[in-house]
Amino acid sequence: MEMLYEGKAKKIFKTDNNGEYLVYYKDDATAFNGVKKDEINEKGIINNKISSYVFELLESNDIKTHYVKRISDREMIVKSVEIVPLEVIVRNVSAGSMCKRFGVDEGLEFKSPVFEFSYKNDDLGDPLINDYHAIALKLATKEELDYIREQAFKINELLKTFFKKLDLKLIDFKLEFGKTQDNEIILADEVSPDTCRLWDVNTNQKMDKDRFRRDLGNVIDAYKEVLSRIEL
Ligand code: C5P
Repeated sequence: MEMLYEGKAKKIFKTDNNGEYLVYYKDDATAFNGVKKDEINEKGIINNKISSYVFELLESNDIKTHYVKRISDREMIVKSVEIVPLEVIVRNVSAGSMCKRFGVDEGLEFKSPVFEFSYKNDDLGDPLINDYHAIALKLATKEELDYIREQAFKINELLKTFFKKLDLKLIDFKLEFGKTQDNEIILADEVSPDTCRLWDVNTNQKMDKDRFRRDLGNVIDAYKEVLSRIEL
């Protein structure tokens, strides 16, 4: 199969069906825009499964996604889309770059969620942008940005409730959207502990990629624990 793209954690292949791609989840882990790199045994398998469950949950709640089906441990069939070059971030609790940028402590609960767009561009380090930048740079139209924001807030509510039932607090997450051949904007990429911060509600233990970023150890154990709570 022809590989279309290799990202930090996934490879995308063409399939015989023009409207579909195959996503292969790798074990590679990167942080700080690729500066820190490692391989985490089985991460791809766990993230493929977690992402599949999350996409199924969202689809069953009327959120349109690229997900078609999971076909093996590491492979998922998705609808072919052109990725909108925006990282869409929603935050419920302060953490990560928000703490750094504004000098606030981690763990501050927000009354209402914080929404951010970043320009998806590795060379520039995914800079934070606003709607005006995105429109000026022709990354998306105003209508598309409004739609993406509305979907992201809906997804936040669905995921907060979903993870709460698993005794996990959804701190923040990153989404990517794509445009189909019919010009429809749908959720793409993945939703996993690589792209979400999740803390155990009882212990506040980090159950996500911050374990890798900050060398906290037991990275795969935490990812497996998230999956096992979903599958329970
Ligand atoms: O680093 P930052 O605090 O801005 O990250 C916010 C959220 O977005 C985190 O859940 C992080 O895992 C996710 N993220 C991501 N990919 C990036 C940047 C952030 O999945 N390139």
